[in-house]
Amino acid sequence: RLLHTAIERRSAFARLSEQDLAFFQSILGNSGVITDADALVPFNQDWQKKYEGKSRVALRPRSTEQVSEVLRYCSSRRLAVVPQGGNTGLVGGSVPVFDEVVLSTAAMNKVLEFDEVSGTLVAQSGCVLAALDEHVGARGFMMPLDLGAKGSCHIGGNVSTNAGGLRLVRYGSLHGSVLGLEVVLPEPLLPPPPSRGGGGGSSSGSSNGATASAAATAGSTADGRVLDLLRTLRKDNTGYDLKQLFIGAEGTLGVVTAVAIQCAPRPASVQLALLACPTFAAACTTLRAARRMLGEVLSAVEFLDSACSDLATAYLDGVRNPLLPQDAAAAVAGLGEAGDTGGGAAVVARGRGGGEEGLEGGGVGDDRQFYMVVETHGSDADHDTQKMERFLEHVMAEGCVTDGTLAASEAQAKTIWRLREGIAEALARRGAVYKYDVSLPTAVMYDLVEVLRQRLGAAGFGPEGGVQVRREGGVQVRREGGVQVRREGGVQVRREEGVQVVGYGHIGDGNLHLNISAPRYDDDLLHQIEPYVYEFVRQHNGSISAEHGIGLMKAGALPYSKGPVAIELMRRIKETVDPYGILNPYKVLPQR
Ligand code: FAD
Ligand code: MLT
Ligand code: ZN
Repeated sequence: RLLHTAIERRSAFARLSEQDLAFFQSILGNSGVITDADALVPFNQDWQKKYEGKSRVALRPRSTEQVSEVLRYCSSRRLAVVPQGGNTGLVGGSVPVFDEVVLSTAAMNKVLEFDEVSGTLVAQSGCVLAALDEHVGARGFMMPLDLGAKGSCHIGGNVSTNAGGLRLVRYGSLHGSVLGLEVVLPEPLLPPPPSRGGGGGSSSGSSNGATASAAATAGSTADGRVLDLLRTLRKDNTGYDLKQLFIGAEGTLGVVTAVAIQCAPRPASVQLALLACPTFAAACTTLRAARRMLGEVLSAVEFLDSACSDLATAYLDGVRNPLLPQDAAAAVAGLGEAGDTGGGAAVVARGRGGGEEGLEGGGVGDDRQFYMVVETHGSDADHDTQKMERFLEHVMAEGCVTDGTLAASEAQAKTIWRLREGIAEALARRGAVYKYDVSLPTAVMYDLVEVLRQRLGAAGFGPEGGVQVRREGGVQVRREGGVQVRREGGVQVRREEGVQVVGYGHIGDGNLHLNISAPRYDDDLLHQIEPYVYEFVRQHNGSISAEHGIGLMKAGALPYSKGPVAIELMRRIKETVDPYGILNPYKVLPQR
């Protein structure tokens, strides 16, 4: 709707016909084929409501075999397909650009195997991350990734975006924790194997309840397009590690149908602190101290500026910042009501000024203040508490932390996490959001937020804004203090621009989420932001996508982070695996 106006529908792709629908119904049944216009809206629209396609059908296969049948048919008909998991992606990768067939994994939600000795889980790709965490949690384990979208995103979507999230600093990326994958390719790489007599190729089979290997083999390999890499081995050096190709491929190379993943033991002791730092440099010093002093138990280090804190508390019900005076009492009361016996949020630290004065430096709207969420996962509460307390004493004595609160219960921990995890949702509620998810050297990470704030302010965008007068489309436009004044049809029109530039993210991973919130999408604003942001990232040897991926949004910007040889190799891999280009077209790779 927004950023792909320059893309044209590829004429090689067929248009959906009644016969196609009849075929899909014959293999998936009526409930597996969605064609009702209202029911299609959530499949066509992304989480941010920024990208919108016009697909006429969403398919919900239940088994690997059905996915294989769908892809075989779509390939033979040259129907383009967009794989979709929980549709929480933030780069426009999960929705059609035009009329692509949506292939949803929502009905592929069975846990296939869990090994309680090794902690290896095998699940169909449509399992929701939070449901998997609950499943393994009941057996003493946790999923090795966690993110704000856990209640909706699918494990197959996580793998396909190589999602990072809140605990990558401790449990590593999916390139390490994914042990095996089962993927259905758009084209068979081998001729069909000789029939084994029965079972193979039937159209209604389901791998429900099957073991991992059975899921991979029962019928579904019949046409040579199921790539069975579904192993649960920690070590396996047998040639190229092909599964890595599909981790982060964003649905352009194959449809992930099952995932084998290494889970971590659920920690017996969890400590969580929310800290206030007076500057971003102080936040970096705090990060270094956390690495040094919390070492092996450190499980998350996140940051948000106070503009983010204000947005989350203003736009989301029940979200509080326990370090802010107006929120502290309410937060304590709220936590008490939640059945907490620990007596509310314990403010354990005050800045050098001591006592309540420590709070005065902060305050609503002061974006020079930074908050950090520091978490430990360990096995011995006494040991971990002692470590956390020593760390807090140290960072306060150094002056890099001026306030802090240590969660004394699970309810308090939830309050703190909600403040951090709620930022994306708060921004979405405020209006249009230009989202950039970049890797940068940690020390200069926040410079990007500041230079962009200045740049947009000088161009007349932003709450502070400078003054700018220029002609746009033959009309004189004056911008001042975030208000745009122009004459339209002989009438003077004033428009609140209210552009806000905020920064938050996974500081422990050098991953900044730069977000520009605006009342509406505006091409002038976009041109002030891009390619400036990408150029800044390239100048600092960063990456234009730390964790959200490229999708549709950044396909044209890929050369800012990848050289021509790398892009050519990506293209050749794509052409080998998907010669007709039917899988998630227009995404990831720049147009030739
Ligand atoms: P979708 O959005 O459905 O799809 C994402 C991409 O993967 C698309 O290109 C799609 O075609 C492809 N895909 C999906 N399933 C398959 C499959 N089975 N086979 C092949 N391709 C497939 N991301 C992070 O990295 N870290 C975060 O902390 C984080 N937090 C978030 C918080 C919120 C509130 C939201 C809304 C999003 C967040 N995200 C984050 C972004 C998002 O990438 C993740 O939510 C998640 O990994 C996407 O999973 P999904 O199932 O929703 O995939
Ligand atoms: C996060 O870390 O909160 C997510 O990646 C979502 C976002 O960037 O808004
Ligand atoms: Zn993130």
